[in-house]
Amino acid sequence: IDMGKTIQASAIIGHRGLSALSPENTLAAIKVAHLHKIDWIEVDASILGDGTIVLCHDDTLNRCSDRQGSLLSINQQDLLTIDAGSWFSDTFKGEPIPTLIEAFVLLSELNIGLNLELKAQQGVTPHTTVNLIYPLIKNHWKSNKPLLISSFDHEILRLYRQRDPQQLLGPLYEIIEENWHTTMQELGAVSLHCDWQHLTLPLAIAIKTAGYQLFIYTCNDPDIAKKLWHMGVDSIISDVPHLLSPR
Ligand code: G3P
Ligand code: MG
Repeated sequence: IDMGKTIQASAIIGHRGLSALSPENTLAAIKVAHLHKIDWIEVDASILGDGTIVLCHDDTLNRCSDRQGSLLSINQQDLLTIDAGSWFSDTFKGEPIPTLIEAFVLLSELNIGLNLELKAQQGVTPHTTVNLIYPLIKNHWKSNKPLLISSFDHEILRLYRQRDPQQLLGPLYEIIEENWHTTMQELGAVSLHCDWQHLTLPLAIAIKTAGYQLFIYTCNDPDIAKKLWHMGVDSIISDVPHLLSPR
């Protein structure tokens, strides 16, 4: 595993697109991020019943669409009839749940870098997730910008690494575990992603000293963001990326 790898990510990353101003994980959220000059975003990948990968944070349609039920109960053709915009506001009425391929095409057109979060989904094994997503990324990520894959499910990342020795990977933590350094080394990870509420200065220093990029989610307060920059954080993932001051 190539430990010399680094990632050139922007300091400010839009969470689920620009989710304060548009419905999260939609093409509209990516376009709105672009309008606000955001050039890196994070989105969540989940799987439908027929194996289609879509942008969606949850296991179900309930929170972010006009439909109820598990993602696994629908197929790609059902996406045409689902409105994932109206729950946010009338302005986005009819906005669909995008497939990951559609998102890749748009991100490439807009020259936006991507932190793709692979969701551990109820009823889907890590093997299935990697078996579906690895070939899709190989065949469809055509952008010049980097693609960084993260997940709270480190088994997904481990399996991904077995498939692809080159892919940029970054484990997600809520609370950083004591064995974080071993995990980073075993994964050949470039970045460690953690909740801003659980980052301490000694940890930030240790992670940076070990040579890793430090990504923090989800910070929506400009004053806290400033403190995080002072702690040496590389990138902040935010619902309000347009309101944060640069590093
Ligand atoms: O990748 C950072 C962040 O998105 C992780 O949490 O629940 O917002 O996907 P969540
Ligand atoms: Mg996420």
